[in-house]
Amino acid sequence: MTTLIVTASHHGSTREIAERVAEVLRTTQQVETVVEDVAGSAAWLDTADAVIVAAPVYGGKLEKSAKAFLDSRRAELARKSLVILYSGAAPLPDRRLAEQLATYGAREVRYVRGALVEERLSGLEKLKITLVKGQYGDFRDWNAIEHWAKGLGGHGVS
Ligand SMILES: Cc1cc2nc3c(=O)[nH]c(=O)nc-3n(C[C@H](O)[C@H](O)[C@H](O)COP(=O)(O)O)c2cc1C
Repeated sequence: MTTLIVTASHHGSTREIAERVAEVLRTTQQVETVVEDVAGSAAWLDTADAVIVAAPVYGGKLEKSAKAFLDSRRAELARKSLVILYSGAAPLPDRRLAEQLATYGAREVRYVRGALVEERLSGLEKLKITLVKGQYGDFRDWNAIEHWAKGLGGHGVS
């Protein structure tokens, strides 16, 4: 049984969350886990019994390669245990996005706060953050993320 964690991280913070979830699954649940970017995920999809899509929110939407993955692989994902983990800087998830993500038939859809690190952003991204009066910081709650990962067996990740 293999679990594939598909990430789509622009600045690394979601990738770090995916790696931590993988580590918890390996060490506490003995789940064989592979972390791959969307681009490299196709090779693993056939062998995976469970798929966790871990992707950030950009401009109120799920990162676009992750959304394209969910849309284009809908039929294959329906035959597996699918979990969606999405992260953003906002304290709470956007309701419209939550409703949209609920349509993929995932066993679990979970929002966690990510990290908005000024030094990692481009000039245009910094401008956008200034315009929406966004706050920089690392908002990741590692204890909550690890606790969540330990409970994934209940959602078909085993
Ligand atoms: C240009 C830009 C737009 C963003 N838009 C949103 C948003 O709409 N909602 C949100 O909660 N976070 C938003 N964020 C914050 C990112 O989702 C957050 O920093 C995330 O952890 C980044 O993940 P990554 O480092 O894996 O790319 C935005 C960040 C940037 C730079």
